[in-house]
Amino acid sequence: MKLKAVFLLFGLWLAQTVSAVNDGDTMKDVLGKYFTVGAAVNIDIVYGRSPEEARIVTDNFNSIVAENCMKGEVIHPEENTYFWDDADRTVKFAEDNGLEIIGHCLVWHSQPPEWMFTYENGDTVSRAVLIDRMYHHITNVVSRYKGKIKGWDVVNEAVNDDGTMRQSPYYKIIGPDYVRLAFEFAHEADPNAELYINDFSMASPGKRATICKIVRQLKADGCRIDGIGMQSHNGIDYPDLDEYEASIDSFAACGVKVMITELDMNMLPSPDDFSGADISQHFDYQDKLNPYKSGLDSKGRKLFEKRYLDFFGIYYRHRHQISRVTFWGVTDKGSWLNDFPVEGRTNYPLLFDRENKAKPVVEKIIKLFSE
Ligand code: XIL
Repeated sequence: MKLKAVFLLFGLWLAQTVSAVNDGDTMKDVLGKYFTVGAAVNIDIVYGRSPEEARIVTDNFNSIVAENCMKGEVIHPEENTYFWDDADRTVKFAEDNGLEIIGHCLVWHSQPPEWMFTYENGDTVSRAVLIDRMYHHITNVVSRYKGKIKGWDVVNEAVNDDGTMRQSPYYKIIGPDYVRLAFEFAHEADPNAELYINDFSMASPGKRATICKIVRQLKADGCRIDGIGMQSHNGIDYPDLDEYEASIDSFAACGVKVMITELDMNMLPSPDDFSGADISQHFDYQDKLNPYKSGLDSKGRKLFEKRYLDFFGIYYRHRHQISRVTFWGVTDKGSWLNDFPVEGRTNYPLLFDRENKAKPVVEKIIKLFSE
């Protein structure tokens, strides 16, 4: 009897181990045991104009974020006019497909509502007026999706790589406490939504230190802050992996969730003086900056895999600190990196190719998390 029970237990254990990865298991099934796996979606996907990409999203991911349509310049084109159609549709796409949805983003120096910082005569608004405008923007956007959006990138890119505060119009007009005010307004509008601070080049030690300082101060002030988003617009020779890993540890030590929020891998040569992901950077097109027009060579493909596996090795080691990994886009064809920081290039930053096929590294990532 005892022996039978032992055999039975062994059988159960074996069955469970063998079935840990089932054929057809995708990233959301396997990596999803530890964190949500997401993708930024554009409006073609949510309006059904790109059904193959929509299918990739619903098969492989359990979380989405709007690539552009919730940003200030789109959703709030004039002081008294909101444009909800695309954002509503994106939220519906998430609901229809059982996906978690993240809101991106409320306060950011890029793509802001154009009218936000000036009066009609062109003069810069006063501190009180900007606080009031920021309050109404945040309140109206967040409350429209109250209970539907899991969490918001409240403040995006507030810090420079050296750890100084970015001299954004919000900073210059309101002062450093614009960050705290933004978090308070967002929390008031949806008390149950998670609230995040998000930035690029998060491996940089100066930025890491300041982000930690901001988060600890917000907590000390009694504000809700749930997570730190590391955009992770990575390339083949940046960021330094040890520094990147150190940032995950430091951010987790602030007592918040760590999220990889905009993951991609720039495979093309960088123009001189380029770093980070400030979308205002532009460089002229040159043929030598676009070397893989008809596909990566085998060296490039190997490097692509190695880099992705290095990063997912880190995510695996830190799987208990990380709550979400979101890719910035779905397929190479739709990636913003074909046009940033140089327009009109052919880039290969994502896990799904121009024919909507999963690249071989996807299976390797899944295997890494199945062991
Ligand atoms: C990018 C979009 O992908 C592009 O389509 C748009 O033209 C510019 O913005 N950091 C962010 C994202 O937080 O919102 C940016 O998205 C990429 C850099």
